[in-house]
Amino acid sequence: MKVTRELFDEVMAPNYNPAKMIPVRGVGSRVWDQNGEEYIDLAGGIAVNALGHCHPALVTALKEQSEKLWHLSNVFTNEPALRLAKKLTDLTFADRVYFCNSGAEANEAALKLARRWALDHYGEDKNQIIAFKQGFHGRTFFTVTVGGQPAYSDGFGPKPGAIDHVAYNDLDALKAIMSDKTCAVMMEPLQGEGGIISPTDEFIKGVRELCDKHNALLIFDEVQAGVGRTGHLYAYMGLGVAPDILTTAKALGGGFPVGAMLATADVAASLKVGTHGSTYGGNPLACAVAEAAIDTINTPEVLEGVKQREALFRKGLQAINEKYDVFSEVRGKGLLLGAALNEKYQGRSRDFLVAAADHKLMCLVAGVNVVRFAPSLIISEEDIAEGLARFEKAVAQVVNG
Ligand SMILES: Cc1ncc(COP(=O)(O)O)c(C=O)c1O
Repeated sequence: MKVTRELFDEVMAPNYNPAKMIPVRGVGSRVWDQNGEEYIDLAGGIAVNALGHCHPALVTALKEQSEKLWHLSNVFTNEPALRLAKKLTDLTFADRVYFCNSGAEANEAALKLARRWALDHYGEDKNQIIAFKQGFHGRTFFTVTVGGQPAYSDGFGPKPGAIDHVAYNDLDALKAIMSDKTCAVMMEPLQGEGGIISPTDEFIKGVRELCDKHNALLIFDEVQAGVGRTGHLYAYMGLGVAPDILTTAKALGGGFPVGAMLATADVAASLKVGTHGSTYGGNPLACAVAEAAIDTINTPEVLEGVKQREALFRKGLQAINEKYDVFSEVRGKGLLLGAALNEKYQGRSRDFLVAAADHKLMCLVAGVNVVRFAPSLIISEEDIAEGLARFEKAVAQVVNG
C-alpha cells in the first residue's frame, strides 16, 4: 500500500493538519522523509525527544524490556515502575508517584487529587481551582477547562465548575481571588503553549506564600518544562520554590508515552485504593525507557550542556534579528525558547514555520506571535549552526515576501 499525505484526509479524524511530508526515520536531531530529504529537528516532537531520535540508551532499554515483560495492569506492580518511582522521589521534593500515559492524564490526576485532598481535610466548600490565562494543561475536559484558553474548552457543553483564571505574573489578581475556599493553584513554571512566558521571581514566590496562607495546594505542571529542559532536572529547582504536586510527561519517556504525577506523602494519601487509575499507567515498557531517559539526562554534562546550547541559540537568533529585525525579544529558559515577533510581524508565526519547512527545518510556534524552539537537549553544535542557518533563510523568505 502506498502511504501518502492524502491518505490522512481520507482515514484520519480532521483534528490535525500535519505537514505535507511524512517523516520515516530519525537519528539525533536529523529526520528523513519518505523521499530521503533530510531535516534538522529543532521542534523535538514538542519538547518530547529530549535525547533526539533513537538515542542508543533508550533503544537498548526498550529492546531489553520488550523481551522480558510488556504489560500486566495495576493488579500487579513491576520492577521498572518501582525503580523509576524510587528515582523520581529520591531526586525531587516528592515522596509518592502515580504513573499514567500523557501530560493531560498526569494533570487530570493532580486536579482530582487536589479536590479529594481538600474534601478529606476541609470539607466540600474548599473546591476552587485557580489557574492562569494562556496556560495549557491538556485536552481532557477537566484539564482543558483549567487551561487558560477558552477557545480550546468552548463548544463541548457544560464545563467542570469552580475553576477561575487570572493573568500570569499578576500577584495582586491572584491575591484578590484567592480565599480559604481555594483548594489548588495550578501553573506552568514556564508557560509553553501560551507563548514562552517565565514567571517573575516575586510572582512564583508570592504564589507559594498565598497557597500556604490559604492551605491550598500548589501544582506545577512541568509537562513541557520538566526533565532537563530548563537546565535543571525540573524547572522548580531553578526557581527556589517547590510545589506540593508536580506533573511530568513528554520528555520523561524521550518519545515513549509516559506521564507521572509526583506528590508529597501527606497529599498523596488522599488517593486511596480505587480513587483513580489507568490500565497502562506504569507499564514496564514505558517505565524502563523513562528510567534510561532520567539516568541519561540527569547528569551535570547534559544539564550544563543545556545552558551552553541555550547561549548558542540566543546568540544565533540575535544575529538573525540584527540583520532582519523580526523579533522583539528571545525569551524562555534552557532549550525552551521563544522568538517573539515584533510589531511588524504580529500574527504571523505560522508563516515562519512554513518557510522553515521549505528549508528543511522543523520548529514550532507558541501562539500566533512566537516561534518556538524545543530541540534535543544534546543537539550537536554543528546541528545548531546548520539549523540556525536554515532558519535564517526562512526568515529572509518571510521578510522578502
Ligand atoms: C504544560 C503542558 N501540560 C500538559 C500538556 C498535555 O500533554 P499531553 O499532550 O501529553 O496530554 C502539554 C502539551 O503540550 C503541555 O505543554
